[in-house]
Amino acid sequence: MIGAAQEGLNVSITGLGCKVPDRVVTNEDLTQYVDTTDQWIRERTGIRERRMASEEEALSDLALPACRDALAQAGVEGKDVDLLIVATVTPDMAFPSTGAILADQLGAVDAAAYDLSAGCTGFMYALAQAYGMLAAGLAERALVVGGDVLSRILDWTDRSTLVLFGDGVGAVVLEAVPERGFLGFELGADGGGGESLWLPGSGSRIFDESERFVKMNGREVYKFATRILVQSAEDVLRRCGVTIGDVDVYVPHQANIRIIDHATKKLGVPSERVVINVDRYGNTSSGSIPLALADAAQDGRLRPGKLVLMTGMGAGLTWGSALIRWTKEMS
Ligand code: ACO
Repeated sequence: MIGAAQEGLNVSITGLGCKVPDRVVTNEDLTQYVDTTDQWIRERTGIRERRMASEEEALSDLALPACRDALAQAGVEGKDVDLLIVATVTPDMAFPSTGAILADQLGAVDAAAYDLSAGCTGFMYALAQAYGMLAAGLAERALVVGGDVLSRILDWTDRSTLVLFGDGVGAVVLEAVPERGFLGFELGADGGGGESLWLPGSGSRIFDESERFVKMNGREVYKFATRILVQSAEDVLRRCGVTIGDVDVYVPHQANIRIIDHATKKLGVPSERVVINVDRYGNTSSGSIPLALADAAQDGRLRPGKLVLMTGMGAGLTWGSALIRWTKEMS
């Protein structure tokens, strides 16, 4: 699915918040659990450390402060939110949805609230859904949350996955605005590649007890990721009638610095336009892109008029890009 945002109301991001757990887990810390080294992890992934939730922290505990910050920046109260989507593969529980839990905590009593599952691409899918509902006038103020507590579903004896992931959440407020914000989206899925990255024993299909953790064919996912980050970005740029040279801020999914470097070179994005946080957070799944947006806001790169390209990819296999002309002064 691909589309330029030509019909309906103009929609943009008007607030942004994020939250990572306080607990820092270094590469060295992981050597207690698996046969790995700081050097291997840095060289093959670019990751130095990641954040991991405490035993008491669930997704909604991290998401709540991120939502509050996003709402405060937008100048919106919880009761004014009428759509709340949480993109995650690690909700607090299967039901009630984390969306419903957060809506209650925020006082969003009139909001449609639900969770959305599209692997690490979830935040991109949720942005596109919220955009569509706002542009069509079905909702007025949306809160879109992307985040995961992947440390809960990792196999702490599997070095090929344990070292890659971390926990974190970001949230954005979307509203109708006078000038065009979102310019277009590109989303896709290939269930045929699903077993390259999956969590078998997590639903109604019965597997052995040992199949409760993330399983990944790293080389297959690497090949997919390097191809799709480029293809999806090029598709959305073409459909929106802009070129990569017009992009001021490039926010790729933060899975591995080698994947990001590959996409950056292939696309031809100057390195100073790329946002990178995989070194500090690892792969935070649906949290990855909103956390990177928060970094770009923090370092002054997200300013009104700037063209921002985001591309995610992940389990499904899924992928998605969004192009937005930033409209909000972030300071
Ligand atoms: N420490 C030390 N050695 C390791 C580790 C580790 N943590 N993990 C694997 N190795 C070993 C392997 O066993 C292998 O040893 P062998 O040659 O004796 O068999 C060797 O290192 C090389 O393994 P490769 O898998 O070839 O290493 P590669 O350079 O491909 O890097 C990696 C592996 C980092 C997983 C890479 O394939 C990758 O990044 N893949 C994509 C992962 C990804 O992006 N996943 C998530 C995307 S979607 C989402 O975000 C949910």
